[in-house]
Amino acid sequence: MCGIIGYTGTANAIPKMMKGLSVLEYRGYDSVGIAAQENSKTKIVKCKGRIGALEEKLRDQPIEGSHCAIGHTRWATHGGPSDKNAHPHRVGAVTLVHNGIIENYKDLRASLAEKGVIFQSETDTEVAAALINDCFAQSGDPVASIREASEKMKGAFAFGILFEGYPGEVFAVRRGSPLILARGKDGYYIASDMTALLPFTKEYYALKENQIVRLSPGGGRIVLSDGTKIAPQWETTTMTPESAQKGGYSHFMLKEIHEQPGAVVKSVSPRINADGLPDFSSDGIEPAFWQTVKSIQIVACGSAMHAGLVGLRLLEDLAKVPTSVSIASEFRYHPPILPEGSLVIVISQSGETADTLAALRYAKENGIPTLAIVNAVETTIAREADRRIYTFAGPEIAVATTKGYCTQASVLWMIAAAIAHTTGRIDDAQAKAITRSLLCDVPAAIEQMLTLENRYHKIARNLINHEHVFYIGRGMDYALSMEAALKLKEISYIHCEAYAAGELKHGTISLVEPGTPVLAICTEQALLEKTESNIREVRSRGAQVTLIVRDDLPTPPDPAEEVILLPTSSEAATVFAALTAIQYIAYETALLLGCDIDRPRNLAKSVTVE
Ligand code: AGP
Repeated sequence: MCGIIGYTGTANAIPKMMKGLSVLEYRGYDSVGIAAQENSKTKIVKCKGRIGALEEKLRDQPIEGSHCAIGHTRWATHGGPSDKNAHPHRVGAVTLVHNGIIENYKDLRASLAEKGVIFQSETDTEVAAALINDCFAQSGDPVASIREASEKMKGAFAFGILFEGYPGEVFAVRRGSPLILARGKDGYYIASDMTALLPFTKEYYALKENQIVRLSPGGGRIVLSDGTKIAPQWETTTMTPESAQKGGYSHFMLKEIHEQPGAVVKSVSPRINADGLPDFSSDGIEPAFWQTVKSIQIVACGSAMHAGLVGLRLLEDLAKVPTSVSIASEFRYHPPILPEGSLVIVISQSGETADTLAALRYAKENGIPTLAIVNAVETTIAREADRRIYTFAGPEIAVATTKGYCTQASVLWMIAAAIAHTTGRIDDAQAKAITRSLLCDVPAAIEQMLTLENRYHKIARNLINHEHVFYIGRGMDYALSMEAALKLKEISYIHCEAYAAGELKHGTISLVEPGTPVLAICTEQALLEKTESNIREVRSRGAQVTLIVRDDLPTPPDPAEEVILLPTSSEAATVFAALTAIQYIAYETALLLGCDIDRPRNLAKSVTVE
């Protein structure tokens, strides 16, 4: 995923570009660049590296008095991080920045090369610039050339474009990648997401698929794919610059871990009615809908898929609905059996993950009802699903999700309770106990776990000395272990595997040697005994075990090298307490290793390419 931004108006464009790009860096940070109109010429300054490298370059190659510019921060897809592969790319009269992937770029590149185009980079983006330029050379009309070129491209794109001969004008188009249009007091903007524009304005319009935008200092016009012009329906975002800033924490990830109690309350309370029962009517989902659901396929990527694994346990144990979880990028390639009464639930924090969006579209093409659990509002997945339930976690900036996953799990718990109650599996009292637990016990349990920073730090001090770490658990704890392993891997770069505790002895235990850290999670009373026998198996081979266990279980003397006790005010409280512990352990480990916690290497916040 990349970040794009554009501006035209009465103010100096360069400071706006730099400010916006510094916010967008979480979307990708291999290379960065801007193109600005200076004295009716378009000047490009770009380089490999992060925004600081661009600031350095701009000191050597200053751009004076520009009021119209586009900018880009890159997560490499085609062509590695380099100055020449950095955006913006210029071909002829067209200069553009791109977020997405042009799947047929090789064919397009070949046909353009036959026309004499000599490419400077390895990117699909430069091919898009050449194609638009080729169309512009024939039509002489920027909007028509964008539309014609878009029709020839396959894949996902959001472009910000400058045309020679059109001073002060920024053009843009989106298909499959997000793009926001915004209006400020001193001009108009485009950006990949609203966080980049919060320092300038709150008024935005989320562009729809295939809409083309023509911005000039005096206004922004939207041209639909059929050529008709419409005025943007401006909305006002509730986000604030502060809500997208660190708020005094050393990292966004730590801030977002600490925001979880409030995020859970914000995500569940709108779905609890006056009687204390689960109720999604405010999301446009009436109880009768849940009665139509005979089976559920959850489809997502990464942590969102891991949240789905938590949901699977709840939907089957509580609501007795047969449920499966698929990795989104696999979903389409083993055609899923989607019988009558199926519901496909897609989960996505960003609402723009290409693999998940593709799975959503596949389900819709096959006539299956779809429900999206999304955090970022007005995003493609949220808009395209038949129904959507927002997790009100607020902007999540750290690449490693915490409150996003946490609120997804809380909403899934509410959905399971709603289905169970609607279908008579649980009565009013049981349903109210669940909603009360999510609204009260869970936030309190997370708060309690947030006070154990020193314990997590001590565990982390051991982990940093090892190349391989294992998380083990049974049932729900195996699902939690999957997320625990990913959290540790993605921000500390330590290899970590999650294993069903009972499965370790069927092969992988051969990797356990004296000192190997094994973290065992046990939130379920009934599974402690079995998990303890698995702990003994690894300890007898020298493993250093950390036991994350509910505080009401009689544990044997010396059960592990470290023990983290979990509150047991309710089942949900214990699960979310364990989640907080594994998130914090990953954070403390990465901190000790000096890793870039908010922007881990090779990653991006939302992967908008398949
Ligand atoms: C989680 O920490 C990762 N950043 C990644 O696995 C993420 O969950 C995945 O890419 C899905 O993103 P989404 O929720 O925005 O769709």
